Order: sequence, then C-alpha cells, then structure tokens
Amino acid sequence: MTAAPVTARAGANIALVKYWGKRDLALNLPAAGSVSITLDGLETESRLVADAALNQDELSLNGRPADAERIGRVLDLMRELAGGGPFCRVESRNNFPTGAGLASSASAFAALVVAAARLFGLDLPHDRLSELARRGSGSAARSIFGGFVEMHSGMQADGSDCVAAPLLAADEWPLEVVVAITDSGAKKVGSTDGMLRTMDTSPYYRSWVDSVAEDVAAAGRAIAGRDFEQLAEVSESSALKMHASVLAARPGLIYWNGASVSCMHCVRALREQGIGVFFTIDAGPQIKAICEPGNAARVGAELESVPGVENVLYTGLGEGARVIS
Ligand code: PMV
Repeated sequence: MTAAPVTARAGANIALVKYWGKRDLALNLPAAGSVSITLDGLETESRLVADAALNQDELSLNGRPADAERIGRVLDLMRELAGGGPFCRVESRNNFPTGAGLASSASAFAALVVAAARLFGLDLPHDRLSELARRGSGSAARSIFGGFVEMHSGMQADGSDCVAAPLLAADEWPLEVVVAITDSGAKKVGSTDGMLRTMDTSPYYRSWVDSVAEDVAAAGRAIAGRDFEQLAEVSESSALKMHASVLAARPGLIYWNGASVSCMHCVRALREQGIGVFFTIDAGPQIKAICEPGNAARVGAELESVPGVENVLYTGLGEGARVIS
C-alpha cells in the first residue's frame, strides 16, 4: 500500500476539572470524568508516511528520533480496525517550547489518530477517534474536540463509552490563557507514574475520585451559563484537590516550585481586585491562568513580574484535531 502522506494538527488542552487516576490500566480508562479547554497556540502537527519497507513504526519528535512504542500501540489498534495496513514514519512537531513542562501527549495523540484514520481509510466518527486517542493518553481523548470539552468516564468495561464530547465552541466564550513557565527544565514524575503512586498510596485518593462528578457537573453548568466566577471556583478547587491527593502519596509528589505558589497568590490577588482570572496547575510547575476575554495582557504583565517566572505564553481557545493535508 502506498497511500499519500497525511498531516494532521491538534491543540494541547488544559483540564479545568482534572483527570487523575485510572479505573483500568490496560484500556487506559479514567476513574472519573474531566472538563477541559483546547488551546489554539500550543499545537502538534504530525505527518504520517506509510512505508511498506518498515517492519515497525518510527517516530521523530521535533526532528529527532524518539521512542515509537506508545504510538505503535495506537497505530496497531487502528491497523486492526482497518483490517491491516502499513507501518508508518511519524514526523511530529510541537509549535510550543519543548521541555517547558507543558503536556504535549494530548495534542500528539489526537493529531496521530486523526492522521492515521485518514491514512488507513477509516471513516470514524469523532467519539471513536476520541476513544482511540485515549488509548495513547487519557487527556488526548479531549483534544479531538475544540473549545470546552467534557470527558465521560463511562460505565462499559470495554471503554466504548469512555470518550470526550464537546460542550461549547471556542468562539462562543473566547477565554484567554496565560501560561507562566516557572521551570523550563523541570524533571517531573510523569502523569501515569504519578497517578499510579497516588492510587496505591494516597489516603485521599478515594475521596478525590468520589468528588469529581459533582465538579464536572458544576463546571458544565458554569460553561453553559458563561458564569466565570463559578468556573473559577470549581476549577481552582479541582486543581488544588488533585494536588492534595498527590501530595499525600508516599513518597508525596510535589509538582510545584516556589514560583508556582507565588503565581497562585498573584492570580488570587488579581481576582480580588475584580479581574476575571483563575489558575490551574498540572503535573509540572507551570501555572496556567485562565482569563476572561480582554484580561490576558494585564494578567500576563503581573505574572511576568513574579520572581521565578522565566517566560509567559499567551494563547486562546482553539479547534479540535483535523487533517490539514
Ligand atoms: O493524559 P495524561 O496521562 O498525560 O494525564 C493528564 C493529567 C493532568 O494533566 C494532570 C490532568 C488532566 O486532566 O489533563
């Protein structure tokens, strides 16, 4: 088979109601739902080239050879669905700083799945693409869609209902996002290892999981009603609760540095002054400040002056994963 190369693009996403913990490791099923926003400025572009001469998939990441094991597993699933297909060379590039501690697996797997579906001739609906992206990385299921997205934890043992779905398009509530990079060289414990340690050892893990559905519902209501204050409250609470269960693991995982904490205080001080902004933080020390439209410049200027902030990125909400050529 010599299909023409396919290139797809997908945006990273940031969870407002966090995903942390799995109910099935093999199928990569999350223990609870989550809510996210897909970004437009932080994107992965992946070009897939079918090559009959290969005997396994190959990956290059920003021009450098990389381990293709995880993408190979997802491509195997897709070849199986297609009733066979060639091994591929995958050339993947991020347009955002690498090593900045910003999750790139979500945009990478979303772009991969969308490109591979086209390459293998699979005409799949978005929820099936989301299910396949989830097999690569839980958060990738959400990057199939743009704007505000809900990930459903699902009930089925096979994970077929464990997929993301759109809540609101990006242009219906164009929030702005400022990312404060506080350590571009941070060596962190990856999300899967961090989740496993939390699940195995944190006394707070169960109560964390039990609290998520209520937060997903509250975030959904806030998004439907464009209620920024309510979204701020539930999002900060979800991030801090997730980190509370992570901190209580053994040994405890401290993803924050001093500047992360200073940024949280800075964001809260701005909110007290009436500026629509809230923070969230993932498995690394960068702070993401979500701003009401028009506030990013002010928020960014304040975060830039926080000691320990190395750099500030500005972005907004973007589209879901799509084939571009
Ligand atoms: O998709 P993963 O396995 O990289 O996990 C993502 C975990 C968090 O970013 C911390 C939270 C989330 O929901 O994105």
